[in-house]
Amino acid sequence: MASILVLNGPNLNMLGRREPAIYGSETLDDIITRLVAVMDELNGTLEHMQSNHEGDLIDAIHAAWGVHDGIVMNPGAFTHYSYAIRDALATVQLPTIEVHISNVHTREEFRHHSVISPVTVGQIVGLGSDGYEWALRALVRRIEKARNH
Ligand code: DQA
Repeated sequence: MASILVLNGPNLNMLGRREPAIYGSETLDDIITRLVAVMDELNGTLEHMQSNHEGDLIDAIHAAWGVHDGIVMNPGAFTHYSYAIRDALATVQLPTIEVHISNVHTREEFRHHSVISPVTVGQIVGLGSDGYEWALRALVRRIEKARNH
């Protein structure tokens, strides 16, 4: 049974109202409700946390150590410049999948680079809010495979 921390960074609490042409019309609550159902299906458990504050996200990553088996994270704009979040992920060494709702590579230049991805298992980009579900499924499969070896 896998235990996953889903983390969302700044401005993602505004999903549904924030630039819907880019981020869609679903709210963060809609997305998390769906993810909880997916985790039930996978016989796992999920904790979700959203914050607009870098330090709170770092504290949540530290608190996941020894508690959760992996992290699905959309770091929002921190993706592009937060060495502190990258270091926190490197500190806890939990397998992490980075999610971006929009296709960051077709947008402004500053969104093309992630300082987070070098410490992740991989990224899911541009698949809308479905990306969270694919990240969750991929991460649980990876954790279960590692356990069986
Ligand atoms: C985002 C992309 C980031 O560039 C942006 O700052 C966000 C959301 C996405 O999910 O597409 O806040 O991470």
